[in-house]
Order: sequence, then C-alpha cells, then structure tokens
Amino acid sequence: MALIKFSGVSKQFERNDETFWATRNINLEVEKGEFLTVIGPSGCGKSTVLNLCAGIMTADEGAIMYDGKPVNKVNTKVGYMTQKDNLLPWRTVMKNVELGLEIQGISRSEREKRCRRYIEMVGLDGFEKHYPQELSGGMRKRVSLAQLLAYNPETLLLDEPFGALDAQLRLIMQDKLLEIWKETKKTIIFVTHDLDEAVSLGDRVAVFSKRPGTIKMIEKINIPRPRDVYNIRLSPDFSKAHTTLWSALKDEFELEVSI
Ligand SMILES: Nc1ncnc2c1ncn2[C@@H]1O[C@H](COP(=O)(O)OP(=O)(O)OP(=O)(O)O)[C@@H](O)[C@H]1O
Ligand SMILES: [Mg+2]
Repeated sequence: MALIKFSGVSKQFERNDETFWATRNINLEVEKGEFLTVIGPSGCGKSTVLNLCAGIMTADEGAIMYDGKPVNKVNTKVGYMTQKDNLLPWRTVMKNVELGLEIQGISRSEREKRCRRYIEMVGLDGFEKHYPQELSGGMRKRVSLAQLLAYNPETLLLDEPFGALDAQLRLIMQDKLLEIWKETKKTIIFVTHDLDEAVSLGDRVAVFSKRPGTIKMIEKINIPRPRDVYNIRLSPDFSKAHTTLWSALKDEFELEVSI
C-alpha cells in the first residue's frame, strides 16, 4: 500500500468573484521511503498539492490518504518546508531550529545537541545567534531546512527548498539531503523548477501540466544510487531521462520570447 495516495483530487480557488480550478484530477501514489520530485510551470498547483498533503487545505473533489487514513485535518506525520519561509523574526537561528523540539518537550541540552548538528549540516555554524532578518534569502531557507530535519518527521514535503541558493551551494545541499535521506529512509516529496535537480534527486519525477495542473507524466529515473550530484549530468542515463522529461515539460510553458 502506498504511504501517500491522491485519488482524483481537484482544488478550486476564488478570485474577483470567479472560481477557477488550480488543479484537476490528480492521481498519485508515493511509496514509503520514496524520493519523488515534482516539476511544472509556475501556477500549475505544485504548492497546492503539498498544502493538501499537509492537510492545511481541503480538496474540492477526490481524496488524499496518508498511511491508509484520510487527510482531513493537519497531517502531523509530515514536515512541510513551505515556499516562503515561516521563521519567527523574534527568535534567533538556534531558537527557530529548536522550535519543533521545544513543542515536543525535549530538554534544552538535547535540543541544542540535535539542532547544532543540523545547523552545521546546512553550513550555518557561527550564525546560531543571528536573527532571520540578518540573513540572506538562501540562508533563511537553510535555517528552515535545519528546523525541519531537527523536528524529524516521517515524511518531508519540500517546496523549492534550494531555489534561492547559488549553483554551487545548491549542489552541496542536494548532496547532503541525499545523505540524510539514505540514513533516515524518509519519504520525500520535493518540488523544484529545475529539471536537472528533479532528475538528479528523484526515484521518479512527476511532470505537471500548466493550470489547471494535472499530472502529465511520471518518469522513473534509473540512475543507480548512491548518486554523485556533482558529476551526474555526464551520465548517459541522466541525459536520457532529461530528454524525455524536457519534451513533456517544454510544451507547458506559455511565455513567448521575442528579442
Ligand atoms: N489561497 C489561494 N487563493 C487563491 N488562489 C490561490 C491560492 N493558492 C494558490 N492559488 C492559485 O492557484 C494556482 C496554483 O497555485 P500554486 O501556488 O499551487 O502554484 P505553483 O505550481 O506552486 O506555482 P509556483 O511554481 O509559482 O510556486 C495559481 O493560479 C495561484 O494563483
Ligand atoms: Mg509553488
């Protein structure tokens, strides 16, 4: 049985007294321990799908099941790193990362030990006492990731977690995330705008069509693990998957470029 199952899920929103479908008829199964990457044009409903899985939005049609149970309230089994960070401005980096553990009632010394590991992992040691407003966009994203990993949920929903990072740091973070995934065997749904990233990381890549978003294609990535994210583009398996996915994805972009 799949850990996460979307059956015929649609979601609509209202704007200026008009309703419109953001996503239509999403059918998706994610196995326990799977790393699924999701790609699609802006506005196709990728974040909406994560919101539905986290139980912070409800579907207008269809059902979402998590571990065999319907998701009809906040899903506490998942940790969600949203597209916009939710760091608390009045708490330092350390205090933000500690937040989930504080709520769980974990002792201060244990909290600090666990959190230090993840702060170091995301390359922010030395910044423990900084406040979010003193950090760059990419640093804030990394604080959010450390917060999520310290909280240690069963499933990670990551919405463009590395979008604000420069190309080099992005590779380093991808590598670290794969290491953590291997160590912890978590289930991950990872939304990205970057096809290279989707292919490098995923067991499967789901391509969404433009709004109203639906799943256009799901491609299994047959690149052996452990993967070397720094050199993976040189592998023929990578080019093959990339070509197939790009041919599905490119039709979904509507912008015309004129010079
Ligand atoms: N709370 C909301 N109220 C009204 N409209 C919304 C709401 N959330 C999302 N939408 C609309 O639904 C559509 C899908 O939004 P969503 O944020 O899921 O897209 P996305 O694929 O994550 O885009 P991006 O890649 O730019 O992050 C968009 O047209 C968006 O404007
Ligand atoms: Mg989004």
